[in-house]
Amino acid sequence: MPVTCRGVVAREAGRPVSVEQIVVPDPGPGETVVDIQACGVCHTDLHYREGGIGDDFPFLLGHEAAGLVAGVGPGVVSVAPGDFVVLNWRAVCGECRACRRGRPQYCVATRNATQKMTLEDGTPLAPALGIGAFAETTLVAAGQCTKVDPRARPEAVGLLGCGVMAGLGSALFTGEVRLGDSVAVFGCGGVGCAAIAGARLAGAGTIVAVDLDPTKLGAARRFGATHAVDASVDNPVDQIRVLTGGHGADVCIEAVGNPAVLAQAFYARDLAGTLVQVGVPTPEMRIDLPMIDFFGRGGRLAPSWYGDCLPERDFPVLVDLYLQGRLDLDGFVSETIPLDGVEAAFGRMERGEVLRSVVVVTR
Ligand SMILES: NC(=O)c1ccc[n+]([C@@H]2O[C@H](COP(=O)([O-])OP(=O)(O)OC[C@H]3O[C@@H](n4cnc5c(N)ncnc54)[C@H](O)[C@@H]3O)[C@@H](O)[C@H]2O)c1
Ligand SMILES: [Zn+2]
Ligand SMILES: [Zn+2]
Repeated sequence: MPVTCRGVVAREAGRPVSVEQIVVPDPGPGETVVDIQACGVCHTDLHYREGGIGDDFPFLLGHEAAGLVAGVGPGVVSVAPGDFVVLNWRAVCGECRACRRGRPQYCVATRNATQKMTLEDGTPLAPALGIGAFAETTLVAAGQCTKVDPRARPEAVGLLGCGVMAGLGSALFTGEVRLGDSVAVFGCGGVGCAAIAGARLAGAGTIVAVDLDPTKLGAARRFGATHAVDASVDNPVDQIRVLTGGHGADVCIEAVGNPAVLAQAFYARDLAGTLVQVGVPTPEMRIDLPMIDFFGRGGRLAPSWYGDCLPERDFPVLVDLYLQGRLDLDGFVSETIPLDGVEAAFGRMERGEVLRSVVVVTR
C-alpha cells in the first residue's frame, strides 16, 4: 500500500518551503522505502529552494538522513525491513567505465529510485539529491541505504550522508592526509570542522583552522584544530607559514566556496603541497593565478566531490569510530528541530549560527 505522509516541499523558486502531504509508492524492483528518523539541513537544500539546482519544482528536500528500512522491493538483498541505515547519494552502478576501472567514486550512473513520489494530487516530486528525506517516509534505490550499527544516534550519523562525509573525506581521501602532516582548513562550518576531524583521525600534527567568525574557530578547536587564525584580523597565508616553521601546510583545504579563499589556500601550501577544494563555487566565480606559480609551486590541486567517499566502505567504519568515542559526530548537531522548522533553520544556517540543524521526525 502506498504511504501518505508529511514531507517538506519547495514548490517554486525563492518561496518558503512548506510541509505537505506526500505519497510514497510501494518499493519497486531495486527500491527501498525508509522511515526517516533524522535529517540534517544542508546548504544544498537551500540551493534547491532558490532554484539554483535546476527548475524541476516541486522538490522534496532533505538528504542527510538516517532511518529504518520499512520495506524492500523485488530483488533487494542488501537491506531488509528493520535495518538501521544512513542514506547516501552515491549508490554506484558497478558497470560504468569509472566503476570498471576501479574508481567507483567517479561513477557516472549512480542509482536512484525509478518510481516517483508525488503530492496528493499526483504531481511528481523531485527528491533532493535523489533522496528527499525531510519526510516521515521516503523512497530510494536500495544502494542508497548503507546499513550501520543501530546503537548510533540517528541525528548524528545521518550527517554522514552529505556534508560531514564531504569534509571528513576531503582530508582522509582526497587530501590523503598522513601521519604528522600539517593541515590548514579554510572555513570552519560543518564541512570544514569535519575536515579538521578527518585530519585528526589521519594523525595530522599541526591543524590550523581559518575562519572569520570566532565562534566557528572555537568549534574548530573542539574538533581537533591545534591553532586558529581569524582571517578578519590576520593574513592566513602569513600565519600558516609561521605556524609551520616557515614552510606552509602540507595539505590546505578550502571549505568555503570563494575564489579569494582558494587563492589563500593555494599560497598557504608548502612546496608541492596539496590543495583540496571542497567548498562549492557559484557559476560566475573565477580564479586567476600566475601560471608560473601554478607550475613553480608544484603539488596537487584536487576538487573533492562528497569527499571521494564510498558509502558502503566508509559509513560503517566511521559509525564504529563514533561509537568508540573517536569521532565526535554529536558535535555537529547544533540543534534538533521538527519537520515544520526547516524554513526557519535555513535562516540560522545563512546567518552562520549553526553547524547543523537536524530534523527529528516524530510520528
Ligand atoms: N564538495 C562537496 O561534496 C560538498 C558537500 C557538501 C557541502 N559542500 C560545500 O562546502 C562548503 C561549506 O559548507 P558548510 O556547510 O560548512 O557551510 P557554512 O556556511 O556552515 O561554513 C562556511 C564557513 O566559512 C566561513 N567563511 C566565510 N568566508 C570566509 C573567508 N573569507 N575566510 C575564512 N572563512 C570564511 C564562514 O564563517 C563559515 O564558518 C559550501 O560551499 C558547501 O556547499 C561541498
Ligand atoms: Zn558506475
Ligand atoms: Zn548536503
